[in-house]
Amino acid sequence: MKLPETVRIVEVGPRDGLQNEKKPASTATKLELIRRLAAAGLKTIEATAFVSPKWVPQMSDNAEVLAGALAIAAPGVHYPVLTPNLKGLEAALAAGAKEVAVFGAASEAFSQKNINCSIAESLARFGPVVETARAAGVKVRGYVSCVVACPYAGAVAPQAVAAVAAALFDMGCYEISLGDTIGVGTPGSIRRMLEAVAAHVPVSQLAGHYHDTCGMAIANIYASLDIGVAVFDAAVSGLGGCPYAAGASGNVATEDVVYLLEGLGIPTGVDLAALIDCSAWISAALGRPPGSRVAQARLGRSTLAG
Ligand code: HMG
Ligand code: MG
Repeated sequence: MKLPETVRIVEVGPRDGLQNEKKPASTATKLELIRRLAAAGLKTIEATAFVSPKWVPQMSDNAEVLAGALAIAAPGVHYPVLTPNLKGLEAALAAGAKEVAVFGAASEAFSQKNINCSIAESLARFGPVVETARAAGVKVRGYVSCVVACPYAGAVAPQAVAAVAAALFDMGCYEISLGDTIGVGTPGSIRRMLEAVAAHVPVSQLAGHYHDTCGMAIANIYASLDIGVAVFDAAVSGLGGCPYAAGASGNVATEDVVYLLEGLGIPTGVDLAALIDCSAWISAALGRPPGSRVAQARLGRSTLAG
């Protein structure tokens, strides 16, 4: 097995991690989380989402969060944000965004529930977003949700994922993040999906975004490394979930990904001890124990009781 020499971690805790909290985290908590993540060595921190506040009220302080993150920006740290349409892009640009992401799905049912349009309509909507962002010198990432299965329609064919990934890539997205939104993938299904996508998009431009509902996310990352994927999305403490994917649990915990990669001798630039401190802090702020197995093991049982 030839593993990538380095791996980039995209920390999605402040966005994916906090978009589904019943009691929204305060703006101050979000900014302190972002500060601590940067101090722990994360270089890409997805800060917020410029989505409709009627759909996701948890992200309604998006402009304040992005502006606040940029004001305390650590050197070399990037703060991408989600932008589903031109309205979101314009607001993100006004708040200073230097990188944005559009998000589609490989399932028609999920596309309708999450962004209120068909896959074809979403791609038509993303075209001008990508064009306008790139004209402003802003990089655009593309997400594909439901790369293994959809919470409304069941199994999703690898070819359906490949078609949406290829469309986003051809449109000008520099990287395609493949989301196992409900965390049901296994190394086998993830491998089949990645092989289908890799026929259309270079592996070097792919990222894995694996939720951990079935406890397979770390195994899925290992399988993806074997194929050459070298970018993974993760959320500190395993925070996260999509408001339009009921029952799906959080993202793979960043601590667990760093632990895996350290064990494989792959540098991440992240200070695991500082990240575990950050995990303990945000978990306490949200009133729950850390969702990371590594953090639980390092922090001991006192935190588990908390
Ligand atoms: P819509 O209702 O069809 O939009 O929603 P619309 O264009 O008809 O506008 C309706 C209202 O929303 C209007 O306001 C607009 O101005 C406003 P009104 O006239 O009624 O007062 N509006 C906006 N306001 C602020 N920012 C905007 C915006 N756009 C319209 N950008 C829309 C369509 C896409 C906006 C909506 O469905 C939406 O915001 N969806 C976002 C859902 C979401 O954030 N889901 C979670 C993120 S995706 C995810 O978690 C998956 C991922 O992690 C990968 C994985 O795990 O698979 C990325
Ligand atoms: Mg997600």
